[in-house]
Amino acid sequence: MADKKKRILITGAAGFIGSHICDGILKSTDWDIVVVDRLDYASNGFNRLRDSKAFDDKRVTIYTWDLCLPISENLAKEIGHIDYVLHMAASTHVDDSIANPVPFIRNNIDNTLTMLEYSRAIKPERFVLFSTDEVYSTAPDGVDYKEGDRFNPGNPYSASKAAAECICMAYANTYKVPITILNTMNVLGERQHPQKYLPKIINHILDGKMLEIHSNPEKTKAGRRYYIHARNVADAVMFILNNTTETLHPIDASKGKFNIVGEKEMDNLELARLVEKAVKKYAGDQYSLRYELVDYQSQRPGHDFRYSLSGEKLRKLGWVPPKTIEEGVDKIVGWSLNKENIRWLGRTDIKPNGK
Ligand SMILES: NC(=O)c1ccc[n+]([C@@H]2O[C@H](COP(=O)([O-])OP(=O)(O)OC[C@H]3O[C@@H](n4cnc5c(N)ncnc54)[C@H](O)[C@@H]3O)[C@@H](O)[C@H]2O)c1
Repeated sequence: MADKKKRILITGAAGFIGSHICDGILKSTDWDIVVVDRLDYASNGFNRLRDSKAFDDKRVTIYTWDLCLPISENLAKEIGHIDYVLHMAASTHVDDSIANPVPFIRNNIDNTLTMLEYSRAIKPERFVLFSTDEVYSTAPDGVDYKEGDRFNPGNPYSASKAAAECICMAYANTYKVPITILNTMNVLGERQHPQKYLPKIINHILDGKMLEIHSNPEKTKAGRRYYIHARNVADAVMFILNNTTETLHPIDASKGKFNIVGEKEMDNLELARLVEKAVKKYAGDQYSLRYELVDYQSQRPGHDFRYSLSGEKLRKLGWVPPKTIEEGVDKIVGWSLNKENIRWLGRTDIKPNGK
């Protein structure tokens, strides 16, 4: 399968993870890519795609379209033949979903319906929905959710993703759309939106501002995740497309689902410390982390303390994340502090903002 030239449609690829997946596909295959994105605030236009050294306009065709609308006949004709659909377009910022749930949830359901209806018509070899660890909500200590475990969404974002998964299950059962669902842990990487945790840590360190770190109610432990680098996610997606054919099954809830998990669990303070180490390395020893532990769960309901998925299924199939989290964080910080890339942090240089 890996030898045959494919054509993949990726929705939301002007966004953070989608752009890394395009990069991975361009570097490791001869596939052609069709991108559909509505270029909302999270996209930064097509800059993420343009910034990719591997970008090749002969292999990548881009359409600007709001997927809350059905794909028109003429757009479908322009897109042409598609082997794989990778549906990543979504509203993704949890705080926005808590502040204003209705448009947020509508977008994530409507755009999924559009892509499922399109796929019912064009019958791709595989439809892949990009979902999240957050559909399972907080994982108690010692629990790593497995593929097929029960959803328990803790906020409107995770509910919208769980709803999208359920609608996919219905289309797999009713219309036999060959669907695979990927549940991915929290992703880090270059070109992340400044509202996300890692760029926020860098900006707080550069500006000498107090960073609030999400903790337990006693404020003794920081929240924990299996963070994963976006390039490792891209590698896992290629591994799944090239080495598995599993799609959703009407009875076995674990079939057709894959967890994509970083190599080790880390708390949010440990991550901030890793970022601090790299900021000192690339910008100078004068920069230090100032932080306080804040019990978000009581103050801002909807924030989960610990997310955890089991990576056992992919591990047994032979996938290992190619880069460690330490290497990844060092590279991201070094890249972000380079003067050509500093704009991705929403600033013009490393000097403290406002000074
Ligand atoms: N970031 C993470 O840590 C993480 C973890 C697990 C899963 N995910 C999932 O991965 C996917 C990508 O996440 P990201 O962090 O790269 O997101 P992002 O916010 O950086 O990008 C989302 C992209 O989707 C586009 N989009 C949104 N609604 C659209 C619509 N109606 N029509 C067309 N385009 C639309 C936006 O313009 C944007 O370019 C999402 O489905 C998200 O739920 C993200």
